[in-house]
Amino acid sequence: MRKIIIAIDGWSSCGKSTMARQLASKLNYIFIDSGAMYRAITLFFNRNGIDLDKTDDVKKALTQINLEFVFNDENGNTEICLNHENVETLIRNFDVASKVSEVASNSLVREFAVAQQQKIGVSKGIVMDGRDIGTTVFPNAELKIFVTADIKTRVLRRHKELILKNPEITMDEVQQNLEARDYMDSNRDISPLRQAADAKLLDNTNLTPTEQLEMVLGWATAKING
Ligand code: DC
Repeated sequence: MRKIIIAIDGWSSCGKSTMARQLASKLNYIFIDSGAMYRAITLFFNRNGIDLDKTDDVKKALTQINLEFVFNDENGNTEICLNHENVETLIRNFDVASKVSEVASNSLVREFAVAQQQKIGVSKGIVMDGRDIGTTVFPNAELKIFVTADIKTRVLRRHKELILKNPEITMDEVQQNLEARDYMDSNRDISPLRQAADAKLLDNTNLTPTEQLEMVLGWATAKING
C-alpha cells in the first residue's frame, strides 16, 4: 500500500497531537510531534541560560542538542529525548510553555528543527503535527489538515490538563498563555502559522475525539487509496 505524508497544523491546544497520534497508530505510521522538538530546544535554552539575541550562543547551543524520538512500550507513545534524557513530561511544564513561542520564532532554531523533520519524513508513512508542517516542512504532503476550535473550548481542555500538575493555575492564566502563543505563532516573520491553501479545515469544537478520528481516518484512507 502506498505511504503518504500527513501534515497536521493548527492553533495551540486543539488536540492536534492526540489526534495525530491516534491516526498514526490506526495507519501504522510514525507519529512526530514537532512542537515537542521546539519545547525540548526551549528546555535546553532555559537550563543553559541561552540569550536569543546572541546569535553565536544560539548557534553553539544548537550544536550541543541531540533530539530523538523513542517508543514507550508501556503507553504506546512516541516520546522525545534531549541528549538521551527522556523529557516528554518536563517539556509540558509552564516555564517551557511560556518561552517556547519566542524560541520557535528564531530563524536558526527553525532551520535546525525543520531540517530534522524533513529527514524523518523521507520514507513517508508519517503523521506530523505542528504549525508549519503543511506550509514549510512538507509543502507536498499528500494530506494536509488544519485544526481549529473556539478559544473557550481550548482553554477548558488545556486547563484540565495543567491543573493536574499545578492546582493553582487559573483559567485566565491558561487563556493568556494560549492567546499569547497564538499571536506569536501566527505573526512571526518565518513560517507563521497559516492554513495551507490545500489543507482541509477541521473545527473540532463540537466533535468527540471518536468522531474526529473517524473523519480524518476517512480522509487519509481516501488519499492512500486514491
Ligand atoms: O504544539 P505545541 O503547543 O507543543 O508547540 C509548542 C510551540 O512550538 C508553539 O507555541 C509553536 C511552536 N511550534 C512551531 O513554531 N512550529 C511547529 N511546527 C510546532 C510548534
